[in-house]
Amino acid sequence: MIMWHHKSKLTSCLVVTSLIAVIIGSTFLFLTSPTTPPPVPDKPLYLDASLPITERVSNLLSYMTLEEKIGQMTLVEKDSIKKLSDISDYHLGALLSGSGSKPEENTVTGWKQMIDTYQAEATQSRLGIPLLYGSDAIHGHAHVPEATIFPHLIGLGASGDSELVKKIASATAVEMMATGVNWNFAPNLDMPQDIRWGRVYETFSDDPTLVTKLGAAYVQGLQTAANNTDEQLQVLATPKHFVGLGGMSWDTSLNKNFKIDQGVTDANEALLNEVYLPPFAAAIDAGALNIMVGLNTWGDDRMVRQKHLLTDVLKKQLGFKGFIVSDWYGVHEGTHNTFWATTVAINSGVDMVMLPFDYETFTRQVKWANRLGLISDARIDDAVSRILYAKFSLGLFDQAGSTETLTTIPNQAHRALAREAVAQSLVLLKNENSILPLKTNVRKIRVAGSAANNIGKQSGAWTIEWQGVDGNWLPNSTSILAGIKEIANKNTQIEFEEQALFSTDSDQADVGIAIVGESPYAEGWGDNAKPSLSDEDLTTIKNLKQTSRSVVVILVTGRPLIITDEIKDWDAVVVAWLPGSEGAGVADVLFGTKPFTGSLPLPWPSNINQLPITINGESSNDSNVLFSRYFKLLY
Ligand code: BGC
Repeated sequence: MIMWHHKSKLTSCLVVTSLIAVIIGSTFLFLTSPTTPPPVPDKPLYLDASLPITERVSNLLSYMTLEEKIGQMTLVEKDSIKKLSDISDYHLGALLSGSGSKPEENTVTGWKQMIDTYQAEATQSRLGIPLLYGSDAIHGHAHVPEATIFPHLIGLGASGDSELVKKIASATAVEMMATGVNWNFAPNLDMPQDIRWGRVYETFSDDPTLVTKLGAAYVQGLQTAANNTDEQLQVLATPKHFVGLGGMSWDTSLNKNFKIDQGVTDANEALLNEVYLPPFAAAIDAGALNIMVGLNTWGDDRMVRQKHLLTDVLKKQLGFKGFIVSDWYGVHEGTHNTFWATTVAINSGVDMVMLPFDYETFTRQVKWANRLGLISDARIDDAVSRILYAKFSLGLFDQAGSTETLTTIPNQAHRALAREAVAQSLVLLKNENSILPLKTNVRKIRVAGSAANNIGKQSGAWTIEWQGVDGNWLPNSTSILAGIKEIANKNTQIEFEEQALFSTDSDQADVGIAIVGESPYAEGWGDNAKPSLSDEDLTTIKNLKQTSRSVVVILVTGRPLIITDEIKDWDAVVVAWLPGSEGAGVADVLFGTKPFTGSLPLPWPSNINQLPITINGESSNDSNVLFSRYFKLLY
């Protein structure tokens, strides 16, 4: 009897365990089993370039499995790819080179071969869907040595010239295409309300009207080349970051290393609409087919989870037909529950996730979320259709990989354009006794300063490396010092000593030129409680003053610096921003070959307590600033 009792207990235990195993097993099968690929005819309609893009998209979509669709929504940093075949095995839709991530051989050929290899792997798959390959060519294709490095956007904002911006974006696209990169995470449409933010130089201005005008010009220039006779786009633009970036408050960053970058945007919805949306609306009108969501927080949630803004406002109200991509690790930052974070972001409207690392987990989790009914088929189809629409618009199915010839870089015409842009971006703040432009008969010029002979410094960050490079090793570029030597009259004697330790026994120079400013920084690493000149730079200027009759200070900087106490001792002041590879553009204006035409794209505070000066697009403390927005000294 007792034995029987034990036996029956054992049996029921076994039955329950088997039942649980069956349930787990079938749930697992239900979640993971592959979808059967629909058969594809020999000549599917989506390959017919004469058909309208929407027709090609829906035809291709009809052949895709769930796994193939999810792959399209996956954006991976190229160094995270474990093996080449993962590109086709996971049906990946897009790769990127994070800033500083380059091919083994960082040359045009190296880039071209690397991306062509990735494209070949993607296109040999069942449906042959080409990759988007993205990079931050935010001031030219500046991670490639010998590419043209244009001024960072703040300098183009100072020029105020939309035709110039359009030409620069177009030249950037041509250089990108030579390497196979078909997607640029630019233009930046953020509006910095506070110069302590480390991304001020990536923006055109804090003025929505100017950003709207220049941003749209950039999108047009990048996407549609002058020689482009049909509707095909050349390089995909990414207006970023949606939305309210630049409006974060100091000390609100959710990243413990930063202060304001990745912080909380202080604006109600009416202000978002009025100040931050117009540049995006104009970019969409200009043809933008991709927009990147910011890493900021609005209200009590991260932007990537703001369904109302991403879906109702951006997609419905603004009629955005392209796809929304999240920013670097933006969906998973600050959360342990990656499954839930992914589900919420995709349901909020994110179409492609810049993971950028773990594609295995992401693709598995999206599939599970779909099978569990947490992400609908319709949402996935919508996301994938938007991504494919951009791919067809780029003509990728008709020709993937690099299209321009390798001789595109280095490019003399682009370098001439960059030199012109540098000249147009300079802002004259002070000019005592009309010392500028320098007279042709000037006898002796002394040049000094940490940024005088340093192409890395004058180019700023997002140049070769994310945080930039220090020094003069960029080939075929011209430092500001070299530019001065090139333009000056041959009879003018030019002396250079970085710290201005010139002999006090010799004759004074007629003019001393101090070229000083910020060292490169990117993103939150550039958050700075008091942007100002270093003690070393200030000492250099003082030294120079002792051995020169008058001193011109050239500020190489990504933002206004606090110079209120020092400027009275300087005879002339020029803001050169971060000019890039063509330092001679500075000399062109110093010597009067070209006039000063730039104006300040944002107010220049006199002290830190005034910050933020711009409150929601309006310069609130304008009367107390050292120079107001659009200041320019005519001479
Ligand atoms: C930045 C983006 C950039 C992305 C890819 C992020 O850290 O916020 O602006 O496009 O990285 O490099």
